[in-house]
Amino acid sequence: MDWRVENDTVGFSLNGHPVSPRPRVGERLSETLRERLGARDVKIGCNAGDCGACTVLVDGDPVCACLMPAHQAEGRAVETLAGFMQNDPLMQQLADSFQAHGAAQCGICTPGMMVAALALLRRTPDPDELAVKDALGGVLCRCTGYRKIIRAVMEVGTTPPPPPTGEVGAAIPRLDGLAKVAGNELYGDDVAPARTLEVRLIRSPYPRAGFTLGGLDAYVAATDGIETVLTAADIPGRNLFGTIPDFIDQPVFAETEAWFRGDPVAAVVGTPEALATLDPARFPVTWDERPPVDDVHEAMAPEAPLLHDGREGNLMCAGLVQCGDPEAALAQADTVVEGHYRSGFVEHAYIEPEAGFAQMADGRVEVHACTQAPVMDQESLADILGTDRSQVRIIPTAVGGGFGAKLDLSVQPYLALATLKTGKPVRLTYSRTESMQATTKRHPSDLHLRIGATRDGRLSGFTFDGLFNTGAYSSWGPTVANRVPVHASGPYRVADYRSEAKGIHTHNPPAGAFRGFGVPQAAIAQECLFDELADTLGIDRLEFRIRNALENGTPTVCGQVFDQGVGIRACLEALRPAWDTERTAAAAFNTQNNTLKRGVGVAAGWYGCGNTSLPNPSTIKSGIRADGTVMLHQGAMDIGQGANTVIAQIFATALGVPVDSLHLIGPDTDVTPDGGKTSASRQTYVSGNAARLSGEALRAQILSRVNASAEAQLEIHTGTIRITDRGDTHDIDLTALPPDAEGYVLRAEETYDPPTRPLDENGQGIPYAQFGYAAHLAVIEVDTRLGTVKPLRFTAAHDVGRAINPLLVEGQVEGGIAQGLGMALMEEYLPGTTENLHDYLIPTIGDIPPIDTIIIEEPDAHGPYGAKGLGEHALIPTAPALLNAIRDACGVQITKVPATPARLRAAIREQSHDR
Ligand code: FES
Ligand code: FES
Repeated sequence: MDWRVENDTVGFSLNGHPVSPRPRVGERLSETLRERLGARDVKIGCNAGDCGACTVLVDGDPVCACLMPAHQAEGRAVETLAGFMQNDPLMQQLADSFQAHGAAQCGICTPGMMVAALALLRRTPDPDELAVKDALGGVLCRCTGYRKIIRAVMEVGTTPPPPPTGEVGAAIPRLDGLAKVAGNELYGDDVAPARTLEVRLIRSPYPRAGFTLGGLDAYVAATDGIETVLTAADIPGRNLFGTIPDFIDQPVFAETEAWFRGDPVAAVVGTPEALATLDPARFPVTWDERPPVDDVHEAMAPEAPLLHDGREGNLMCAGLVQCGDPEAALAQADTVVEGHYRSGFVEHAYIEPEAGFAQMADGRVEVHACTQAPVMDQESLADILGTDRSQVRIIPTAVGGGFGAKLDLSVQPYLALATLKTGKPVRLTYSRTESMQATTKRHPSDLHLRIGATRDGRLSGFTFDGLFNTGAYSSWGPTVANRVPVHASGPYRVADYRSEAKGIHTHNPPAGAFRGFGVPQAAIAQECLFDELADTLGIDRLEFRIRNALENGTPTVCGQVFDQGVGIRACLEALRPAWDTERTAAAAFNTQNNTLKRGVGVAAGWYGCGNTSLPNPSTIKSGIRADGTVMLHQGAMDIGQGANTVIAQIFATALGVPVDSLHLIGPDTDVTPDGGKTSASRQTYVSGNAARLSGEALRAQILSRVNASAEAQLEIHTGTIRITDRGDTHDIDLTALPPDAEGYVLRAEETYDPPTRPLDENGQGIPYAQFGYAAHLAVIEVDTRLGTVKPLRFTAAHDVGRAINPLLVEGQVEGGIAQGLGMALMEEYLPGTTENLHDYLIPTIGDIPPIDTIIIEEPDAHGPYGAKGLGEHALIPTAPALLNAIRDACGVQITKVPATPARLRAAIREQSHDR
């Protein structure tokens, strides 16, 4: 049956051209535009009207194309970003402005955002901030924190020229930004050819259920357009994947019992039209629902069902750091505070659901998908397929946000198995619900702390016991268990310390990596208790932190002593002016208001860059062709954070050429060396160092050919390198040099691995070669009748060692604050309940107040040009700063995040009853 023939055509104009597709009855306009008309600049984030990524103009008005049936477009004018970029000067100006302001990070929201902004600018050429927020309020961005988007729209037409050479320290626009602002960037769902077979997963509807599959052959034979069904029986290799050796425990397909709602048991492969109408209820599976364990305390009980053999009490693993004698120090302390803090699952909520395409190419499996870790994907797929790594090629697509969850496999094994079994190209895109049900989350935490201090405000004793709900499978749980005890002290001198973190299995989606790996949860508890301690002692809260801040030469809780590069005191000191001003202003406001109360909160954070005490190398390759082209093989995944730009700036500076003279070759396991995974704030530091070494090695080769000094200037022209040294010029004729197999006449491939040392049984050692530091100040207003919190301002001081690109630093800080704000005030993933973006709330453009970013540059001896990582740091102090501001405003200590209006109102009411 040809589904298209049965349906009526619909005639409308698309970007000024008449079109007449034949959509299914009720087909979304977004699907028609993307799949029938090739308008893949229209992005899909939710298919439910919640994210705005699909915004187009219909007869000049912004419309969510996913909410409009295609047949309603009859006779109308539909316009998309790509069309505007061809013929609308205002959109071209807006694109320039988005680029100049760094308003596109991953870029998946950008087409919808720009189209909505264009509609505003046509109506209101000079909008104020309120008007921008109003017009763009329906488009979600998970990366930027919106502030740069607001500026880009308000300052359209006034774009300053970028700095000319792009050396380290220059705030140049993203090198990969043009495709994003033009709507040409291709994400996981954008790369499959039309009519490619699709894959649909059959998932457990229960958190725990036995199941039986039967009659699969008959099902395939009886269902039009179904090519095959995949189950565990189709896996040629190992039916397991994971991220940490010894914890590879997640099945591609459950075999006898499903362990979380959304656990896959089978996959259906078929034509797009067959899958569009597939009814999963007709799939031949029989479920046997069983009682799940949902909570860590329940899971640790002796009678609880064991999820994994050998993990008694459902304990996945534990991490421990201890030094000194914390009990004795607490006993001697002049005051001790104690707290129990909890947090729930937090969803990454990137706007791009997991998606990809795979095909057989020259007998090998080739996977194009969004990922943060292409080489890890290659290794895992080889294991699942029972083949050698060389038989799997990973060509990552652009990534529409990751934040940790795209470190794990998602669509990739199903794509690989489906193309292997059918021999045909296949594609798979998770629905928003699938993305939220089945991919990893931030670990819920249950934390007990005791912290002591002497009356002069010095910390004296610190214990931390943390339980982390790691869900059904390990994912990055071991990393969280090991990282948290190292960081739970915060960036402070704590001589007597014991911290233990345990990962506990439950029948929930796997909890994994999410910006901070457990550190943000720990920071909430520690930083909130610091305010209690300071208040008990009668010491200013900022001053208390400064008094205890780590410095060069003081040991961390792991006994690691940095003799340079510790920048936390500078971050805290940088907040002093705002602290004083805002506290005074809030006090004045509060004397005038009874129900609205303002508060100011401060909190700090630190984060060790790279893997904890594990090898963590990155390799960067570069080469020069005979025609003078400089190629940079840059394998560090840019998921929006800016690796493509920052690493190129470092390389260009090391080689001594302008950054715009480079040609980037992105991640591809066939042609680009392993840049390691994009996680743990490691790419600027680790891959950046590999880029620096590669640039320096290439430069050294060039200089040595003409015996030039290190200060010589390079100019690379067609076929020639000109070297100017102390008034002399030398030319190297590149065309006279023999090219290697890749066509390079000069090349350099270098690897950098951070110098760390394993932790001993007490967690003593050198877990990271560098830490980055941060301190945030939040000003908020609480409506004490409603329990609502309105953030008014942030001041964020970050020690980044050296800001390789200050524009991108600001973008990371603003984006991190937005995510921290969501975690503090609104985000809680409840399996089975908040599986979409209207029940699971993330910050909108209206939620993010002005952010003043203060960049501190305390150079790190290990970092490239002194640079430190930043990605995770930006979020860590935000939530505790907000909770401390709430306490400052209304005296209520929130101990479970998010601080929803209902929770805060209940706490305020309880407090007033207690009085
Ligand atoms: S895809 Fe249309 S609003 Fe999200
Ligand atoms: S840049 Fe907006 S979602 Fe990534």
